[in-house]
Amino acid sequence: MTKTRKTPEELRSHRWFGASDLRSFGHRSRIKQLGHAPEDYAGKPVIAIVNTWSGLAHCHGHFPARVEAIRRGVLQAGGFPVEIPVMALPENFVKPTTMLYRNLLAMEVEESLRSLPVDGAVLMGGCDKTTPATIMGAISAGLPAIFMPAGPMLRGDWGGRILGSGSDVWKYWDEKRAGNISEAQWEDMESGIARSDGVCMTMGTAMTMTSLAEVLGLTLPGATSIPAPDSRHARMAAATGRRIVEMVWGDVTPADLLSQASFENAIVASAALAGSTNAIIHLIAMARRAGIELDLDRFDALSAGVPVLANIRPSGQYLMEDFYYAGGLPAFLTRLADRLDLATRTVNGMTLGDNIAGATVWNDDVIRPLDNPVSRAEGLAVLRGNLAPGGCVMKPSAAEPRLLKHEGPALVFDDYDAMAKAVADPDLDVTADHVLVLRNAGPQGGPGMPEWGMLPIPVKLLRQGVRDMLRISDARMSGTSYGACVLHVAPESFVGGPLALIRTGDVIAIDVAARRIDVRLSDEELARRRAAWTPPPPRFPRGYGAIFAAHIGQADTGCDFDVLARPGTIAEPEIH
Ligand code: FES
Ligand code: MG
Repeated sequence: MTKTRKTPEELRSHRWFGASDLRSFGHRSRIKQLGHAPEDYAGKPVIAIVNTWSGLAHCHGHFPARVEAIRRGVLQAGGFPVEIPVMALPENFVKPTTMLYRNLLAMEVEESLRSLPVDGAVLMGGCDKTTPATIMGAISAGLPAIFMPAGPMLRGDWGGRILGSGSDVWKYWDEKRAGNISEAQWEDMESGIARSDGVCMTMGTAMTMTSLAEVLGLTLPGATSIPAPDSRHARMAAATGRRIVEMVWGDVTPADLLSQASFENAIVASAALAGSTNAIIHLIAMARRAGIELDLDRFDALSAGVPVLANIRPSGQYLMEDFYYAGGLPAFLTRLADRLDLATRTVNGMTLGDNIAGATVWNDDVIRPLDNPVSRAEGLAVLRGNLAPGGCVMKPSAAEPRLLKHEGPALVFDDYDAMAKAVADPDLDVTADHVLVLRNAGPQGGPGMPEWGMLPIPVKLLRQGVRDMLRISDARMSGTSYGACVLHVAPESFVGGPLALIRTGDVIAIDVAARRIDVRLSDEELARRRAAWTPPPPRFPRGYGAIFAAHIGQADTGCDFDVLARPGTIAEPEIH
């Protein structure tokens, strides 16, 4: 790929500002209305700082300050920075789930970049869906773009204990339900678990996706692991601002960086990070935007035999702050070098191999060597069978080994509330061998495929000391969750997938080694039940939800909209 360096007249924004006609008069008079003289913008790359901030974006509280750092970098490099606010998707606050809106944010980013006079973009994201969404939008917009990750928050602190986002909430909630933690202790935890700006500092979806953005070559090297409050994070933001200006002159677009090899690197890295299962959906969606097909079986094959080297909760012991001090992602990737294609290209014009050369691991307990992994258990398995003809996923490493080959009677719930009520009942008819099933929790049924997949252990079993059991749903699971949870069952029950047909008492059998998940029912019985099944009424009578329902794909194809999940860009807008 050799592209000639752009001249100022070849900048995209020149079409708005550089001509000498009625329209360009309008554009120049309006940029002047904003207080900008030609010295600010004429002949310079216009850089959109795409900001997923809002007053409720709990993980992005430092973004206003980082916008200033990025702006400084853009100016130093001779660009013209403009902030473009887009939808914020604060993972904790958005209901029913941020996943309902990932594609809406992706569309907003794409259309903002396409419709406005900009030459390149800095994508500011981090809290879960904001990373795939902004990247999906930027891939489809086709302009030079660089990702600036939010960075993890500091370790949680409570009564002398270190707390990890999500993971420790689930853990201590179970202890509270078992009667081992008081109300006062629980309130104390609430004040210490999220005590700084930044994203969840466990290996949840946020840190998985920003780490994979770096592996894909879309961030400056080392950008991802820096804790949000560390001054090195602000300096990285300025460096990112400087870099995007050069990328515009060189016309370096996401399509120039992304390849089958870069996505396969991301899959391998995700396995060694023990990354969130959500990454599967997001990587498939991002890849399809770039014209690259990743199927579920590719994830299974590439993850096989990759040991978990990042000793980070929920699969390990430490948190992202420790990971950064241990050398961060570049040092981590040196340990995987033999399994990566180091020739993939990155935003700084260097290869992945160049960028990690010389990186040092400072703590072998946090970033493990290959001969001393956190776990040799498989981080990911893709299962199929008569319960999931389109596939489903689980994290064997996060499950009790006895549940990896198991048969037990199903206890089936049609909705979350019924399930929540039942598991709180101390007299529920349930044993540790039962298989909890939640349906109507997929992309259409959830709606939006909420993170309900780690179904709570019934309180009756908790009091008996049970901490894991087999659970199956068409939902997703938070990257900070754990347990024998079979997720992303495709096709989902709401559209008539086999999960819709099973009943309490049917026997479900899982065999992870054989990659099977089945209900012990004959094809004839399943066919009989299918003939008697009636689809539930639509979730949305109008609005965005109705658009979502009309276009959303299933989990195994990335849950993108059919009209968006296509490679290539569309024509530049006419300027009249
Ligand atoms: Fe924002 Fe976890 S809630 S990253
Ligand atoms: Mg999450």
